[in-house]
Amino acid sequence: MPATIIMGGQWGDEGKGKLTDALAANATMVVRANGGSNAGHTVQTRNGTFKLRLVPSGILNPHVRCVIGAGVVIDLGTLVSELRGLQDRGIDTSGMTISDRAHLVLPFHKRLDELEEKRREQDEIGTTLNGNGPAYADKASRHGLRVCDLLRPEILRRKLAIEVDAKNQTLAGVFGDPPLEFQPLYEELLELTEFIRPMVVPTEVVVQDALQAGEQVIVECAQGAMLDIDYGTYPYVTSSSPTAAGACQGAGVAPSQVESVIGVYKAYSTRVGGGPMPAELLDETGELIRVRGREWGVNTGRPRRTGWFDAVAARQTSRLNGVTGIALTLIDVLDVLEEIGICDGYRVGERSISHVPALLDELDGATPALTFMPGWSEDTSAARSLAELPPNALAYLAAIETRLGAPVQYVGVGPDREQLIDRRQK
Ligand code: GDP
Ligand code: IMO
Ligand code: MG
Repeated sequence: MPATIIMGGQWGDEGKGKLTDALAANATMVVRANGGSNAGHTVQTRNGTFKLRLVPSGILNPHVRCVIGAGVVIDLGTLVSELRGLQDRGIDTSGMTISDRAHLVLPFHKRLDELEEKRREQDEIGTTLNGNGPAYADKASRHGLRVCDLLRPEILRRKLAIEVDAKNQTLAGVFGDPPLEFQPLYEELLELTEFIRPMVVPTEVVVQDALQAGEQVIVECAQGAMLDIDYGTYPYVTSSSPTAAGACQGAGVAPSQVESVIGVYKAYSTRVGGGPMPAELLDETGELIRVRGREWGVNTGRPRRTGWFDAVAARQTSRLNGVTGIALTLIDVLDVLEEIGICDGYRVGERSISHVPALLDELDGATPALTFMPGWSEDTSAARSLAELPPNALAYLAAIETRLGAPVQYVGVGPDREQLIDRRQK
């Protein structure tokens, strides 16, 4: 029963969308497992660039059935406009299903996200302000509203009224913010619900039926494992589990049904928002990588921080997630560099740290222990097989394989759908 997990091995934006789209060509189903509209997954095709937030990145493959799993938190307005936008561009969304168990992100979650960030002042997390944190908090504290509630107006009315009332007390009492009105929100939700109603099903049944029938199912994660709520750089993390284990949970797939875990890693590091990044490049090399990699957020437009490949963090995510194969993306971005650094440890004063510590204060003033490899100074963007890559690029791939303990199966050499090397292709 073959399920393949596609997950980010760093701090998100590793190119999961592009890989999911490519591998979906040989799959029948793509299930999005976690996160919400904080995600931005880019798929660049001949018919233009698609920036997906909630819709699984298999949607551009007409034969693929796409599923939004129970682990996702859904901002209904965003989802409906995303689906409408795809339909306007001629994309068939009729095969979409949405979990009746998925939780909703509501306007008060977004407002609380903003207010809590403001209150943290210089310690702000740098969230995407999409309300994900407060929505997952409500899920965990059992205050959440779910997609199934939308289908029954009277149930929605009752539950929503309680939550709006409770949140208004917090907004006014803690933040001095004006209250949110119940009725317009209720009516808007009812209207939006009509658009998704035919898609709402118990997706865990759909996914299990597909697996039992021997179909190829891809589970697509959002974010990256260094943003994981348990093993990421807490508190500078997202509020879900963008991990292989989280993928199972969010998609409704059992661990024993997973055949492979593809860890998507950029050939260097990026991160948006706050939190430690010892291998960060604050110089012109960092800027060069930002410009060549077009490292600005898909939805937020925020510049991404850039740095050398952090093998300490990457090794941790590879091990904890049982990565069976690596997709090393954006190596073309490094084409012009004379030498390329890999961070093999963090130095703090006299101490050397070779794991990601729980207490981030331990990383204050940390500098990276770097190993430099020679660059290849050659355009790789037209390569379609490993044999077409320069020897120094192959040596870089091998260095990453050694550190992560898994083989590189895919290599990204440009943003286009076709700019992907599959190792099995000679
Ligand atoms: P995701 O969130 O993991 O799906 O990644 P994003 O779409 O947020 O960010 C990845 C960015 O890199 C997008 O702009 C992609 O079009 C682009 N991209 C993906 N793979 C490659 C690659 O191999 N080379 C280059 N140059 N760009 C890539
Ligand atoms: P994709 O799926 C990169 C980051 C935010 C912030 C932290 C918490 O495109 O890889 P949140 O809004 O989730 O509460 O923000 O997590 N973050 C991402 N960074 N890519 C993402 O998604 C991200 N989703 C959240 O920048 O640091
Ligand atoms: Mg992204």
